[in-house]
Amino acid sequence: MKFFIDTANLAQIKEANDLGILDGVTTNPSLMAKEGIKGEQAIMNHYKTIAELVDGDVSAEVISTDFDGMVAEGKKLAAIRPNIVVKVPMIKDGVKALKWFSDNNIKTNCTLVFSAGQAILAAKAGANYVSPFIGRIDDGGWDGVQLIEQIAGIYTIQGFETEILAASIRNPLHIIKCAEAGADVCTCPLDSILGLLKHPLTDIGLAKFLADAKGVK
Ligand code: G3P
Repeated sequence: MKFFIDTANLAQIKEANDLGILDGVTTNPSLMAKEGIKGEQAIMNHYKTIAELVDGDVSAEVISTDFDGMVAEGKKLAAIRPNIVVKVPMIKDGVKALKWFSDNNIKTNCTLVFSAGQAILAAKAGANYVSPFIGRIDDGGWDGVQLIEQIAGIYTIQGFETEILAASIRNPLHIIKCAEAGADVCTCPLDSILGLLKHPLTDIGLAKFLADAKGVK
């Protein structure tokens, strides 16, 4: 399973990248706004900075909701750097745009996916990634991980090549469950990635090893 970081914060992207386990980055308009990045040029520059920082795919989201607008925006985003992936919302014109991008060799990530039906449509339209938002599904009282498992089953049976990118990850357990459920990628906040390495017995064991090592010096 690949690890992406879900942020537009450069310091956090660098920290995850320095760990050596980062495969890519996802952003969205809310994450860009959180970093105070406003205006078309500033947004494009920020995507360029992120795409230069990491080797893997960087999702950059369109904000148009009509086919022509999405295609025009996506072309500009894709031209920033070869590792930019155009993020397109799961709406009717979005499906058309996904197909257009696929036909024109522009990589895409279909976002705001909350059902298996939407995931099938994204795959049919040729999306490279599909992003089910598992945390938001959990928030509504459903089981986000179960959706990952369902989509993984369908994609295997049907031979779809679209990668399942589990998004809206809220904690380390989400990452583990998504790995079990067959996600190809997890896009996570830095805290959830770092949370994976914590275990009290590791700390206790290390303290003991270090204490014993002092004794035999
Ligand atoms: O990748 C989508 C993600 O940013 C949404 O996360 O926590 O706002 O549901 P969240």
